[in-house]
Amino acid sequence: MALSATPDRGSPHSQSKATFSFRCIGCGSLTATAVKDFRCTQCGNLLEITDPSWHSSKLNAPTLKSTWRDRRSSNATLDLSGVWRFRELLPSPESTEHVISLREGNTPLYELSQASCITGVLRLYAKHQGMNPTGSFKDAGMTVAATFARQAGYRWVACASTGNTSASMAAYAGRGGMRSLVLVPDGKISWSKLSQALDYGALTCQLRTDFDGCLRLLQELVRRAPVYQLNSINPFRLEGQKTLALELLEQLDWQPPDHIIVPGGNLGNSSAIGKALLEMLDLGLIPRLPKLSVIQAEGANALVRTFLEAGGKHLVSVQPETRATAIRIGNPASWEKAVRVIQATGGACDQVSETEIAQAKAEIGAEGIGCEPASAVTLAGLKKLLRQGFVKADETVVLVLTGNLLKDPDFTMEFHRGDLFRVRGASNEPDRDSLNLLRHPPVVLDANLDAVIQTLERAENSDPAHPNA
Ligand code: F0G
Repeated sequence: MALSATPDRGSPHSQSKATFSFRCIGCGSLTATAVKDFRCTQCGNLLEITDPSWHSSKLNAPTLKSTWRDRRSSNATLDLSGVWRFRELLPSPESTEHVISLREGNTPLYELSQASCITGVLRLYAKHQGMNPTGSFKDAGMTVAATFARQAGYRWVACASTGNTSASMAAYAGRGGMRSLVLVPDGKISWSKLSQALDYGALTCQLRTDFDGCLRLLQELVRRAPVYQLNSINPFRLEGQKTLALELLEQLDWQPPDHIIVPGGNLGNSSAIGKALLEMLDLGLIPRLPKLSVIQAEGANALVRTFLEAGGKHLVSVQPETRATAIRIGNPASWEKAVRVIQATGGACDQVSETEIAQAKAEIGAEGIGCEPASAVTLAGLKKLLRQGFVKADETVVLVLTGNLLKDPDFTMEFHRGDLFRVRGASNEPDRDSLNLLRHPPVVLDANLDAVIQTLERAENSDPAHPNA
């Protein structure tokens, strides 16, 4: 097998010329190299990347802000990326020629005017990471991690995924001339995500297990085969994902919102955003920390239970089940990193039901923005945090929408046709009326002008969602 043409099996991932190092989040030990499972060789905990240059007095906040702003009008390849534009706070590759970019980042920050009316929160925004090249937030981390994979000379990259990581990894591998191996749970990822991986040329294995089973297998695989793992255990991914927070704060003229709300699955993204916020505070880029809150689906609520039942001290795993398949994860790898940043920023961790997710998704869609089900937990979670008094209506809130509406068309079609909960066998869902108001099923008609006009009139008279139409 041609696998032997790749770097030495199990050889450490060396960053010889780099200024950054790997720090264990458990015992704090620092190393210049990381083994292929990105775990500490002393205590087995996860690694994060740190660079003394990020804390040096050479990095002056006003200069950084103006450098990053100026790059927005540059046509240089690195500056066109909304990730590498912030390269002073990223690990540097040995040469910019290694960088694999699809012009990721530069995602919009939308005001959510209709959701603002629904929730009463006057300053409510959505940072839409679904507007990335492959349609999810994963691209921001993948450009960095794929770059370091190529720099290290790997021929194969691999991941376990609920769909978005695999789509993103396959795209960046293809772009960078590497091959990719995807492990996904059979039947539990959306067709659109699976089809992306196929089209970008990945070797795709649908395993008869769930995401956690795929990730376990990948961990064993990277020890035995010369493949480079691109799950969010890989700390380079999280460095790239930090730029979501940098770009967000830049879009808010460096005025921190009171709250940032993010979906929680394997918990890499919340960890990355939290790391960025803490580094930004440290560097004087922001005067105070926003509270970072993580929302999970009720059926995949490992972090919620970890806080409630173990005080955040050890992971409480669950058997995951939710239609928000992106976050159908029961044993999140980065739980400890997430606990730390939630605690450090004073955020909350909560869960929402399948009905609440469906409703919030339709509300975000009706606003002309749209997102995939996992992203909608943020709006559903905001409503809950408002009811609890944790978020106040006069505070500024940013929801992180992690995936594009087009990522899960089956969910959307089933919702609008009224089949979503019937399929799940949960016909006694509460709040059915409010869900029905959000449904816009297609109407099949003869190709007849009168029939269309009558349908138009019926809609005009019966759509309370658009009273002024
Ligand atoms: N939202 C979407 C759309 C996702 O795809 C994921 C994770 C999350 C939220 C949760 O982010 O894992 O960093 O807490 N998707 C992974 C995947 C696991 O394989 O695509 P997280």
